[in-house]
Amino acid sequence: MKILIIGNGWIGKRCHESWPDSVLSDIKIKSVTDVIALLEEHRPDVVLNAAGVVGKPNVDWCETHQQETIFGNIVLPILIAEAVQQKNIYLLHMGTGCVYYGYFTDPKGWKESDPANPLAVYTKTKYAADLVLSTLPNVGIARIRMPIDSIPSSANLIDKLVRYPKVVDVINSATVVEDMIKVFYKLLEQRATGIFHVTNPGAIKHREIIALYEELVDPSHTNEWLTEEDLVTSGLAKKKRSNNILQSPNLDALGIAMRPIHEAVRDAMIKYSENIK
Ligand SMILES: NC(=O)c1ccc[n+]([C@@H]2O[C@H](COP(=O)([O-])OP(=O)(O)OC[C@H]3O[C@@H](n4cnc5c(N)ncnc54)[C@H](OP(=O)(O)O)[C@@H]3O)[C@@H](O)[C@H]2O)c1
Repeated sequence: MKILIIGNGWIGKRCHESWPDSVLSDIKIKSVTDVIALLEEHRPDVVLNAAGVVGKPNVDWCETHQQETIFGNIVLPILIAEAVQQKNIYLLHMGTGCVYYGYFTDPKGWKESDPANPLAVYTKTKYAADLVLSTLPNVGIARIRMPIDSIPSSANLIDKLVRYPKVVDVINSATVVEDMIKVFYKLLEQRATGIFHVTNPGAIKHREIIALYEELVDPSHTNEWLTEEDLVTSGLAKKKRSNNILQSPNLDALGIAMRPIHEAVRDAMIKYSENIK
């Protein structure tokens, strides 16, 4: 299976390193013609769209850069979807589980079929793309959350949490990158359509991730704790962040399983401690 990965960023590169049968494009796409040219050059069987605008240094950037965020997260996926429809090639598009704010009445969490309630420019644009792309045949949408990786990176939740002097005390669904890469491959192989919550079953507290870091990586690490409300009122974030728990019945229905969150995060942290040496 030849996979064309669009988006030469953190996740695009991580997938490319793991898939010998992939090509990674770093072309800046501006039109459907640009995408058609890429498809004709590489002749892929399937496409992963890992391109998007996440905001740098963080997602608050999107609050004041609406046009760039709308282009990268809504217009760009539609251009890619238009091209793959013309060429009849399957597309797996990356979404985010951060389109849900708060905890659902069902303790197992939000299902893929539950309408979302995005509040920020970033999450509104990501949800807009989900709504549009999910109407198309031959397209799957993989929503990930708070990626946790065994390889240090500024985008890795481990690096983010241990770098903050004050950390929010919350519980969330999360995605362990090693598991995500395997699930994406299976979704691409199956050309699975619809929306998928690609999150490890269960939920994990930021306190538990930091405790693992202190146990396995750096026992001298310390931080202070904040409540969710403190994050915005103290000025550390412009916009309320998404905290939620998700379930993945659509993945379950395909027989695709991920490791339970605590097992997968411990494994990632052990590897992380080796990788930073
Ligand atoms: N990281 C997370 O925590 C997270 C969580 C949930 C979902 N996601 C989703 O996962 C996807 C990948 O995120 P990431 O963390 O890998 O972000 P990233 O490191 O910023 O990578 C995104 C890449 O897309 C590229 N890009 C933007 N506009 C493009 C265009 N018009 N044509 C071609 N490439 C373009 C960017 O290039 P430039 O940098 O040159 O602009 C960048 O290389 C995004 O859809 C994001 O919403 C990420």
